[in-house]
Amino acid sequence: MKVLVINGPNLNMLGKREKSIYGEMTLETINEMLVQKADGKALVEFFQSNHEGDIVGMIHRTDADGIILNAGAYTHTSIAIRDALLAVSKPVIEVHLSNVFAREEFRHKSYISDIAKGVISGFGAMSYVFALEYFMEQDS
Ligand code: DQA
Repeated sequence: MKVLVINGPNLNMLGKREKSIYGEMTLETINEMLVQKADGKALVEFFQSNHEGDIVGMIHRTDADGIILNAGAYTHTSIAIRDALLAVSKPVIEVHLSNVFAREEFRHKSYISDIAKGVISGFGAMSYVFALEYFMEQDS
C-alpha cells in the first residue's frame, strides 16, 4: 500500500520553529522515522508545501491509497483543501504535533476533522507514526 504524508505551511521549519510547542525534531527526521516504521511493508511518500494550491494539486494527482495530512494553519482555514479531499475520496488521517485543543480557540476549528477517518493530535512525531500504523494495520 502507498501512503502519502502531506505537511502544510511552516512545517519545513520544524526543529527551529517554536521548539517548546513543536519539539526539536526536523521534518526530515520525522520522515525517516516513518520510512523505518513502514519497514518496506508500505510505500511512504512525502510532500511539504507552504502553498495552499500546491497542496490541493498534490491531493488531486496522488495515486496513494491513503493520506496522512498535517495541514498546519490551513487546517483551520482551508475549504479548498477540504474540497480537494472530498473530490478524491481517499481515506485521510488528520495529524498534529501539538494538542490543538489545548491551544488557542482558533485552532479548535478544523475544516478536515469531520471528513477524516480520524484525528491524532498532541503526540509530536508519534502522531504521524500512529497514523501510519493504522494504514498498515488495515492492509495486513
Ligand atoms: C499544527 C497545529 C496548527 O494549529 C499550526 O498552525 C501548525 C502545526 C501541529 O502540528 O500541531 O502549523 O498543525
